[in-house]
Amino acid sequence: MSNKEKERILTGDRPTGKLHLGHYVGSLQNRVELQEEYDTFLIIADVQALTTNFEQPEKLGEDVRQVARDYLAAGIDPEKTTIFVQSMVPEIAELTIFFSMLVTVNQLRHNPTIKSEADQYGYKEMSYGFLGYPVSQAADISFCRANLVPVGEDQIPHIEQTRKIVRKFNNLYGEVFPEPKALISDFPRLMGLDGKSKMSKSLNNAIYLSDSVEEVNKKIMQAKTDPARIHKDDPGHPEVCTVFHYHEAFNKEESGEIASRCRAGTIGCVACKKRMAKKLNEFLDPMRERRKKYLENPELIEEIIQKGTKRARKEAAITLKKVREVMKIDYFNN
Ligand code: TRP
Ligand code: SF4
Repeated sequence: MSNKEKERILTGDRPTGKLHLGHYVGSLQNRVELQEEYDTFLIIADVQALTTNFEQPEKLGEDVRQVARDYLAAGIDPEKTTIFVQSMVPEIAELTIFFSMLVTVNQLRHNPTIKSEADQYGYKEMSYGFLGYPVSQAADISFCRANLVPVGEDQIPHIEQTRKIVRKFNNLYGEVFPEPKALISDFPRLMGLDGKSKMSKSLNNAIYLSDSVEEVNKKIMQAKTDPARIHKDDPGHPEVCTVFHYHEAFNKEESGEIASRCRAGTIGCVACKKRMAKKLNEFLDPMRERRKKYLENPELIEEIIQKGTKRARKEAAITLKKVREVMKIDYFNN
């Protein structure tokens, strides 16, 4: 099928550092699989990252490259997927302004993800840009007229907001945009190494896609297990163990056997962790291999992003032309 007939995906990440296993199972894995069937656009949302990191814009350049390397290492194929940078497509900013008229401040204030992020960052008052980033995200999704958005479950309110905006736009002015659907993975939340909360960079409980063999071994050895297991033949409770949770995510074939042996007290935690670390390293090895190529040839990253951005701008120009037409603000056929 040519790209013309395929349905389109748009999704992406804020460039705020290295991607971890939680990103992988939460959405990256879906993207790698779906790039075969869908015309996929991946946005590196640097403007959105600025909504919280506006004090250190100079960090963004390296973070953009880091995210691109993580995508490519994880198996995103630049021949199939269009990787681009948000700030390099100014039409997205333009569409954000048009969309901003179709959203009320109260809708944004009640967005549960905005609320929990504002708490997390300790904002007593929110900047206009932060409160409004879901509108900008609606423009990220819509500028290329995407149909499907594979994301983690915390993004559901933003996709709902996008659908509302698009519906309102289409009703008011004419059909330009499809109503995009969210696609949530089977593993929307991967637990962090501390076993307390979801894997996250800020909680320092993450295994990164770019971790070395030694780092993975060390982190798994320190991971939280069932506290009831003091001796290696104590009966265990895999359902409360972080390492077991990882077996389910990355070692599905053996997880049934591991659960029964843990319950019966016939496998020790050290042996169980060694198996997990080995499995994870086997899983990360091909990513390490691919990453090496891009680390050794950093100009490849720039080429891929320049090419992706060019394609994104081409789609953006088509969309914005239609938008101006239906809104009747193309007075002079500009
Ligand atoms: N908000 C997303 C996150 O924090 C990143 C993002 C920006 C995004 N624009 C998007 C995700 C468009 C999906 C579609 O992870
Ligand atoms: Fe967890 Fe494995 Fe230990 Fe059971 S044996 S508590 S699953 S590490």
